[in-house]
Amino acid sequence: MNKATAVSPANLAFVKFWGLKDAGKILAFNPSISMNLSKCLTKTTVYFDSKFKTDEITLHYFQKKPKKLNSQEAEKIVKQLDRIRKLAGIKYKAQVYSQTNFPSQAGIAASASAFSALTLAASRAAGLKLGKKELSGLTRLSGSGSACRSVIDGFAIWQNKDASELASYTYWPELRDIVVVVDTGEKTTSSFAGHLSACTSPYFKARQQELKSRIPQIAEAIKNKDLKILGEQAELDTLSMHLVMMTSKPPIFSLKPSSWQVIEEVRKWRQQGLPAYFSIDNGPNIHILCEQKNQAEIAKKLKKIPQVLFLIVNKNCPGARLL
Ligand code: PMV
Repeated sequence: MNKATAVSPANLAFVKFWGLKDAGKILAFNPSISMNLSKCLTKTTVYFDSKFKTDEITLHYFQKKPKKLNSQEAEKIVKQLDRIRKLAGIKYKAQVYSQTNFPSQAGIAASASAFSALTLAASRAAGLKLGKKELSGLTRLSGSGSACRSVIDGFAIWQNKDASELASYTYWPELRDIVVVVDTGEKTTSSFAGHLSACTSPYFKARQQELKSRIPQIAEAIKNKDLKILGEQAELDTLSMHLVMMTSKPPIFSLKPSSWQVIEEVRKWRQQGLPAYFSIDNGPNIHILCEQKNQAEIAKKLKKIPQVLFLIVNKNCPGARLL
């Protein structure tokens, strides 16, 4: 078999990865903790064969026509294929077809789902049978470090070279992440550029300090299925990451007025007794953490906000898997 197809979810970090201490080896300054997103998926087929003279990569983005990448656009993907070819001891070029069912480059971790699906499909097509730990470490090297968490089933913690399972995806079945899409445009600064400049912020050290207590608190909140602690800490983590982003050199502003509008509403609903909490990556779109029993009411309220384009309601789910 020199052909394989894999599907992989995006993930949402409650404790976010922001800052690379070794950019060559993709080693983060801090551990990060996430859940997978059941409805934000990338499906990728990789086919190695002697008949291909060059790597042919086609990406089918959400609501767009399939696009064949030129060599510059394909660079990160080809580098990941090269790592896999080297490991497997093969020289064949590949045909890659990848389809993502949600907006890319908009801060919903599309690169995490894309690189974890690519790494699993390509490694299997190349004849490798990697365990989760090895696959996670190899996925990390793709350049999208957070992708190493999408390999893991359910709640993942990434420390050092790979991610591991903190709790199964069935452990807290009531937990929901509603992705609130307010903007499908591309983000202004790549996360990779942000990771490189993160420590130029005077608040970077303070953030690292805060994480010493936040990481165990979030792990404990998952263990206790405690939405209040998880949500409060996830919000603080988002705010601290965006503070670092906005005060880095050069500064990164990824939130839009529509993002603030949603934040304001969520805070208001909470005061009225409706438990909902926000988390935002490097982009304008908002993740709302809540429980199943309040999902319909929150979705109804979100849809009434004029700036909201659409919602994607996610549960936790398994990580990258072969089809
Ligand atoms: O893994 P990257 O390089 O795409 O960076 C991810 C950055 C955040 O999404 C903002 C945080 C995270 O941990 O997912």
